[in-house]
Amino acid sequence: MLDTLLKDYSTVPLESVTVWFKAAEISKFPKNGGACVKYKEKQIAVFNFSRQHKWYACQNLSPEKKEMVLSRGMIGDDKGIPKIACPLHKKTFSLETGENLNGELDPIAIYPVKIEDNFVYIGFSE
Ligand code: FES
Repeated sequence: MLDTLLKDYSTVPLESVTVWFKAAEISKFPKNGGACVKYKEKQIAVFNFSRQHKWYACQNLSPEKKEMVLSRGMIGDDKGIPKIACPLHKKTFSLETGENLNGELDPIAIYPVKIEDNFVYIGFSE
């Protein structure tokens, strides 16, 4: 099951989006924090970087211990790169490329986000 889940997560570049999934109203996402949404079998962490007026989405699965925890991590900035720190062991990942910024872990999958009429949409490729 976990293997299937892992294979399911892969970064979706904006130009590859074929489906915009209507996740929830903006107000459902904490300011400068994250929340988890489910799209089919995928858990997606969505971050409302309100101090920068930006939104990001990535897999909720931390690649280290395979736990669904990234939405509960702390967001921040690493030399201008928006990042998420896993709440378990503080490994950090770029929210732009998915790269592990403080280690050798596999990158996480990143998904495009758009805001329309007060709703948050996440882009997938199918
Ligand atoms: S489980 Fe996420 S950094 Fe260890």
